[in-house]
Amino acid sequence: MRLFLIGFGTVGQSLITLLHQRADDLQARYGFAPSLVGVYTRSQGLLYAPDGLDLAQLQACAAHYAQYEGPHLHDFQPNVDRTLRDGGYDVLIEASATDLQTGQPATDRIERALTSRKHVVTVNKGPIALYYPRLRELAREHGVHLRYEGTVMAGTPSMALALEGLAAARIRGLRGILNGTTNYMLTQMEQESLSYEQALAQAQALGYAEADPTADVDGWDAAGKASILSAALFGVPRSPQAMSVSGIRHLSAADLAEARAQGRRYKLVVRLTPEGGQVQAEALPLSDPLAGVMGGLNAITLETDLLGEVTLIGSGAGGTSTATAILNDLLAIHRAV
Ligand code: HSE
Repeated sequence: MRLFLIGFGTVGQSLITLLHQRADDLQARYGFAPSLVGVYTRSQGLLYAPDGLDLAQLQACAAHYAQYEGPHLHDFQPNVDRTLRDGGYDVLIEASATDLQTGQPATDRIERALTSRKHVVTVNKGPIALYYPRLRELAREHGVHLRYEGTVMAGTPSMALALEGLAAARIRGLRGILNGTTNYMLTQMEQESLSYEQALAQAQALGYAEADPTADVDGWDAAGKASILSAALFGVPRSPQAMSVSGIRHLSAADLAEARAQGRRYKLVVRLTPEGGQVQAEALPLSDPLAGVMGGLNAITLETDLLGEVTLIGSGAGGTSTATAILNDLLAIHRAV
């Protein structure tokens, strides 16, 4: 399986590390031996080697391609469309920064790959949040896979649970904590009395936050995930802008302490049904299971007709976690083809 990676930030770099560290294990357990043939970023351009790039070297030079040695092509201003159409690769991995307003330029690139009969794994949320029905149709028409596990709850398999593990049931609605940055901030503000700014700086340092953290703190990242869940679980496309969305910007450490004194804890909660969705900070009673989900963890409670409530809790953000989702999606494609 030849991989082409777009985006070489926190997630892309973690993926390289994971592929490198796990190479023997993936080969031994699954007979899976992927090679990374290309990496593209907006600032560095294209690094390409048809026989596979050296992962150890890539790890070492991060996004400074000039330091990469060995046979390769480095093009600062490549025609990415042409590479996606003609390039010798099997799977496009889209890990560039999310734009929840337009979904671009990632959506065009994903379309280009799908129509060129390449599989796509995306952790970029914009294209799925805004254009899932169209992209799924394109994948079907061209007989390829479109996978997006890492777009919701990073490496914690929310999509696999909802779409595969619970395929026999009907999901009536859900409630969840779907943003790691804000959950980490609220935890640090309450438990370590950090200021909002200090907590945000820590979340950024841990690689939880989006390139523009406004999307996290104002609720748009969580809303984007609600859009993805609405389209994938309910078959109801609903853009983030069509939901009622607010964030945590108005909360201070003092607000959290006051809530705590009343036996409550603030969480940024997503509520979603086929009829609509909302994202808002809620002071949950401590007896609510979501109130115990701390730090960078996320949680989702699915309300099903056959099993009642099913809850999944796990890591919701960060490079290694999101790269794990990519690797799981690649393994799913490997099993299927
Ligand atoms: N910025 C996101 C979060 C990353 O904090 O949850 C994972 O989608």
